[in-house]
Amino acid sequence: MGVPQSAAGPAGEAFLQWIDGRQVDAVSGARIEVACPSNGHVFASFPASGAEDVDRAVRSARHAFDEGPWGRMPAYERGRRLTALSRLVELHGDELAALESRDTGKPARQGRADVTATIRYYEFYGGAADKVHGDTIPFLDGYTALTLREPHGVVAGIIPWNYPLQILARVLGAALAMGNTLVIKPAEDASLTALRMAELALEADIPPGVVNVVTGYGREAGAALAGHPLVDYVTFTGSPATGTAIQKAAAGNNRGVTMELGGKSPQIVFADADLEAAIPVLVNAIIQNGGQTCSAGSRVLIERSVFDCVASELAERFSALVAGPHDADLDLGALINERQRSRVAAMVAAAEEAGTPVLARGSIAKGAPDGGYYFAPLLFGATDPRAEIAQEEVFGPVLTLFPFEDEAEAVRLANGTDYGLVAGIWTRDGARQHRLAKRVRAGQVFVNAYGAGGGVELPFGGFRRSGHGREKGLEALHDMSATKTVVFRHG
Ligand code: NAI
Ligand code: MG
Repeated sequence: MGVPQSAAGPAGEAFLQWIDGRQVDAVSGARIEVACPSNGHVFASFPASGAEDVDRAVRSARHAFDEGPWGRMPAYERGRRLTALSRLVELHGDELAALESRDTGKPARQGRADVTATIRYYEFYGGAADKVHGDTIPFLDGYTALTLREPHGVVAGIIPWNYPLQILARVLGAALAMGNTLVIKPAEDASLTALRMAELALEADIPPGVVNVVTGYGREAGAALAGHPLVDYVTFTGSPATGTAIQKAAAGNNRGVTMELGGKSPQIVFADADLEAAIPVLVNAIIQNGGQTCSAGSRVLIERSVFDCVASELAERFSALVAGPHDADLDLGALINERQRSRVAAMVAAAEEAGTPVLARGSIAKGAPDGGYYFAPLLFGATDPRAEIAQEEVFGPVLTLFPFEDEAEAVRLANGTDYGLVAGIWTRDGARQHRLAKRVRAGQVFVNAYGAGGGVELPFGGFRRSGHGREKGLEALHDMSATKTVVFRHG
């Protein structure tokens, strides 16, 4: 959570937001202070916008869409400018990675990995912009029928704090490629790199008003944006509860939405799997970004005959994991804020109280600042599949294990939550790989692998409470556009 402004006024660098190509403060002058999760120290601030600021930004995007050159320029020209943005991210990569790490507490190398993926998103969508074709449709004699892919118009993008640069890039890349204009509301916990990206977009010759970034709290700026009548489409990544609120707001105007709402993603380990290859991937899938990843592999389902062996290998690795400051670049950093840290701690305490066995705990680095929001990684053994810790997204470095007897039980457990975002299947049996890939309900299924991040080219999104619509890959271009059917009668 961004820290409310202290009586003494904001400390550190005072960032401004970007509306219509200009840097502006909130109309009210209110600010949100930025604390580094590694130590709790305030080092910057940004505007705490309200409905009036959001209205300005939406009108700017509206004007840029309705009157500006963006939607009319050839698709290849939009592509070139996205490619230019990719080059600018590369050029300023060190600066962006450092800012992202400081703002979110993620280890330095994760900040760099996020920049690498961000470069790829703009490159990918830059290359895709002029390759989106419509159809011609066999129709009545004397007619020609065809389809065009048209931009929605003004897209609202509400972004979470876990991968700010990457999630912004997948939204901006696809939406801009199709000719939309945008208002972005980054999270109050991590807005700094989005503000920098708005500046780089201008430098890449993306016209003023095409990319607006308004900062502020979700219940103020976010809610005003989701329900604004001049917004044509809303895309959101974050919690299911906030997704519901945003969909209700968009429904007030009957606008379309794309929702990416996290998961409780399973990895299924069969006795015949290459365990040596699997173990480090199982660990990384929950430890990456401190477990604050929508696609975190938070449940590991293990065939009974190898349960003890896999559990003890995991325990050995978990005991060695160390959380510490982002610049120390350890296994994981601090969590994003105190609220998230205590939420994770409360879920873990409830599971322990219910008797869930703790197999291993990692540690917090000696000398890690007291004010940081650290949580030591924790490995639970066999967990009750109905328990809260087995059903709800923890969003922390906490892994739960579940033994299973056979394939049918593995599928039941895998599909036994209300989520369905990602799944991993570990087996050498080819027929089983194919059977399970079909039966497991998840938007992405990895076989003998698990891609917790990146995957720029791969369509991504969920079933059920994990959301709907697809981001990434070429499919995102469909979400960010609508089909227009055109019928010509001859003569
Ligand atoms: P959140 O979903 O409330 O916040 C994400 C974004 O939504 C932020 O930009 C926020 O300002 C905005 N927002 C909040 N309320 C809004 C509203 N009423 N209208 C419009 N926008 C609004 O997530 P939060 O509270 O920071 O984290 C709580 C839990 O959500 C986490 O523990 C985690 O389980 C989940 N989460 C999942 C993410 C994912 O990628 N799957 C990302 C962030 C959070
Ligand atoms: Mg922050």
